[in-house]
Amino acid sequence: MSSSQNREMGLCFLVCIVSCSFIYVSSQSAVAGNDNSSVSEGTVFIDGKTSIGKIDEDFICATLDWWPPEKCDYGTCSWDQASLINLDLNNNILLNAIKAFSPLKIRLGGTLQDKVIYDTEDNKQPCVQFVKNTSQMFGFTQGCLPMYRWDELNAFFKKSGAEIIFGLNALAGRSIKSDGSAVGAWNYTNAESFISYTVKKNYSIYGWELGNELCGSGVGTRVAAAQYASDTISLYNTVKKIYSSIEPKPLVIAPGGFFDANWFKEFVDKTGNSVNAITHHIYNLGPGVDTHLIEKILDPSYLDGEADTFNSLQSTIKSSATSAVAWVGESGGAYNSGRNLVTNAFVFSFWYLDQLGMASAYDTKTYCRQSLIGGNYGLLNTTTFVPNPDYYSALLWHRLMGRNVLSTSFSGTKKIRAYTHCAKQSKGITLLIINLDNSTTAEVTVTFNTGPAMNCLWTFPLIYSVKCRVILV
Ligand SMILES: *[C@@H]1O[C@H](CO)[C@@H](O)[C@H](O)[C@H]1NC(C)=O
Ligand SMILES: *[C@@H]1O[C@H](CO)[C@@H](O)[C@H](O)[C@H]1NC(C)=O
Ligand SMILES: *[C@@H]1O[C@H](CO)[C@@H](O)[C@H](O)[C@H]1NC(C)=O
Ligand SMILES: *[C@@H]1O[C@H](CO)[C@@H](O)[C@H](O)[C@H]1NC(C)=O
Ligand SMILES: *[C@@H]1O[C@H](CO)[C@@H](O)[C@H](O)[C@H]1NC(C)=O
Ligand SMILES: *[C@@H]1O[C@H](CO)[C@@H](O)[C@H](O)[C@H]1NC(C)=O
Repeated sequence: MSSSQNREMGLCFLVCIVSCSFIYVSSQSAVAGNDNSSVSEGTVFIDGKTSIGKIDEDFICATLDWWPPEKCDYGTCSWDQASLINLDLNNNILLNAIKAFSPLKIRLGGTLQDKVIYDTEDNKQPCVQFVKNTSQMFGFTQGCLPMYRWDELNAFFKKSGAEIIFGLNALAGRSIKSDGSAVGAWNYTNAESFISYTVKKNYSIYGWELGNELCGSGVGTRVAAAQYASDTISLYNTVKKIYSSIEPKPLVIAPGGFFDANWFKEFVDKTGNSVNAITHHIYNLGPGVDTHLIEKILDPSYLDGEADTFNSLQSTIKSSATSAVAWVGESGGAYNSGRNLVTNAFVFSFWYLDQLGMASAYDTKTYCRQSLIGGNYGLLNTTTFVPNPDYYSALLWHRLMGRNVLSTSFSGTKKIRAYTHCAKQSKGITLLIINLDNSTTAEVTVTFNTGPAMNCLWTFPLIYSVKCRVILV
């Protein structure tokens, strides 16, 4: 824990199984001598009749990025040896941290992915690393992934049981116009031979994702929706061809960027069924340099702000003929590598768990946290690999929150947030309650609608009420 503000708020996962016993997991820590907190009362209402969303079994996902040690923000360099290129794959903490999820989805990508060339047979250029150059887009020169490193990564992923989503370079073949847009069709020659190499080596890939933050108004540059749709169809056809005799085929995923209603609508309509998952990125807290991040994290109306995006993406998908589903493909809260002692501290779980709950309630299937390691928002400490608090939040979520999401509302203080899923490992439900208030204990009564909660293979008693004290001062 990094600041006194963090100590007094609480999170709790409440698992109610058939016998209605409770496993109470909470991250409170008592502050000695302070028993003068006020108490507020409220009621959680859970509608167990229908599910409002269904997350993937392996909903939890984390990212590995390309940033080299020279990547710095606001004068600090927080990436160290956490790049796909230089990460220590022999570290046992890293291995076990991933294994604990069996499986953890890992998305490989980030800004520099659109400057990576793959050193496959067709590559005629020398295979050199990214070099810092502030006059180039994204601040670095083009970089190259040597195949021996790709082999090492895959050996590690296999050993750790991870499911890999690989973000392909979507700028290949395009030219950047003076208005900042990237035009021309995607040249997939290098990507195609990289995918072929991967298949020849029998490396298991869960999904191929096209591009990073090039949709809408883009970061650095942008690609128009119609062009992106046509490139995604090319990727789909390439994957279909290369994996012709292989089942199951990897997913085709795009566009991996910030939600923009018009761009996404056109993209989703034009890709038809050539895309399996629509990925969007979330950095709703603003830049990591902001000194008011903690206030935002603990402000319920600020947290609620992201619901519009989830809602809008969900209706875009529903109103289109597509069979694609929504994913959060990268989410680190605060951009430009997060903020030390905030996005890697206990307080960040209030944002993170709220995000997981909210995303699920809008039927998001997978949520990729930036990052597994690297920057100031790693689930693991960048230098020691020791888990940060959010690692345990992710693991608790993974173990306790089942696939079916139940509509949950809370009446009472706005500082309480509640999310319910069917339990993961038993019949019954798991209720996540978050108290954003650092000085008020909440007495929460949990009520259900009557009738069977078929979703959770469990019959609620006709009248059911549980009192749970959240917090903990
Ligand atoms: C509780 O939160 C308020 C408002 O964010 C803050 O001013 C105060 O310092 C916090 N108190 C403690 C003990 O952390
Ligand atoms: C709590 O209240 C008691 C009596 O009102 C007082 O003596 C004590 O200092 C208070 N403790 C804190 C931490 O405010
Ligand atoms: C940085 O990139 C610019 C533009 O591509 C190039 O002219 C310059 O030589 C590069 N600088 C270094 C130090 O490589
Ligand atoms: C596509 O890129 C490859 C290099 O990977 C190049 O040899 C080829 O000429 C390019 N194709 C087009 C149409 O530009
Ligand atoms: C390829 O990998 C799969 C599992 O990932 C394994 O079942 C299969 O035996 C492998 N095939 C070859 C030829 O190595
Ligand atoms: C990582 O761990 C080291 C050693 O405990 C600590 O000094 C450092 O602050 C940690 N870094 C982060 C980003 O938490």
